[in-house]
Amino acid sequence: MSPFHVTRTLPEDAMAAALRADVQHGLTSDPKWLPPKWFYDAHGSDLFEQITELPEYYPTRAEREILVARAGEIATALPARTLIELGSGSSEKTRYLIDALTGLRTYVPVDVSDSALTQAGKALVAERPELDVHALIADFTAGLTLPDTPGPRLLAFLGGTIGNLLPAERAEFLTGVRALLSPGDALLLGTDLVKDEQVLVRAYDDAAGVTAAFNKNVLTVVNRELGADFEPDTFDHVARWNSEREWIEMRLRSRTAQTVKVPALGLAVDFAAGEEMRTEVSAKFRQESVRTELAAAGLELAHWWTDEEGRFALSLSVAG
Ligand code: SAH
Ligand code: TRP
Repeated sequence: MSPFHVTRTLPEDAMAAALRADVQHGLTSDPKWLPPKWFYDAHGSDLFEQITELPEYYPTRAEREILVARAGEIATALPARTLIELGSGSSEKTRYLIDALTGLRTYVPVDVSDSALTQAGKALVAERPELDVHALIADFTAGLTLPDTPGPRLLAFLGGTIGNLLPAERAEFLTGVRALLSPGDALLLGTDLVKDEQVLVRAYDDAAGVTAAFNKNVLTVVNRELGADFEPDTFDHVARWNSEREWIEMRLRSRTAQTVKVPALGLAVDFAAGEEMRTEVSAKFRQESVRTELAAAGLELAHWWTDEEGRFALSLSVAG
């Protein structure tokens, strides 16, 4: 068998403490909010994989189209010996990169979801026995320590996940990424692009209700981890385009006036009928906004590729 290591840099008690702090802060704020990284327990990761196959959810297909067309160019621009991927999930699209990077020795998938990492890692080592897979259970917003692997290193952040960070969080995140790169390394970033509002809203409010189930899963996580008594069926999924911020906002709207108890925090949280709680944003970008945000972190955009329809972009940037 080829090497497959999993390192947990995120101890389970630290994760539990972070969840408590986030939920305490979010549910006592006005308006209320819950933080997105808690969507991805095993069930949430499964639901996300279903989202990627929905007819309305174009980002995965658009990004795959770019990878299929451009993996060779990416490998030429950055002939990586180590591929690090943040928020790797199923690592499904990553295979195009792995196949194109002929000198690749080590793949370091980083995710908060140990179920996704373990499943993806096992599948990969079975398919690519020569590849050293070093999975990292870690929070990519909390300062990463990467294993000492050979350069050049390509750091991939796909799926448009960067759009799930708020602008200030993105700036901090990109500065942290810049600090991880040595001369000769590069960042490969997937960003969803601003487009027709109807197309965007449908991608986050599908007819089959999978995204609604994914959104409500955060309530199930809080119930399980903190003993809360959220009744997911008493909340409606809402996806709205914010044209000023250019992001999709996901919310949960309480159908009735109700009080939710969170015993682990000693909280009783009142919801008014129709009250909305924000659970996630998914920011959409333009080439200039990506270039500017990268530059602010000391990264220089070197390549920009989109799918045929111009829905999604992959950019390659280097330390400037
Ligand atoms: N890259 C995959 C998955 C995208 S979904 C794709 O393109 O399809 C976002 C992934 O990021 C999930 O697997 C989730 O578990 C992970 N994630 C979200 N927030 C995270 C955080 N703060 N730290 C590490 N992983 C995170
Ligand atoms: N990174 C994905 C995106 O922004 C995550 C996502 C897709 C998501 N659908 C969602 C997050 C629904 C919350 C709710 O496209």
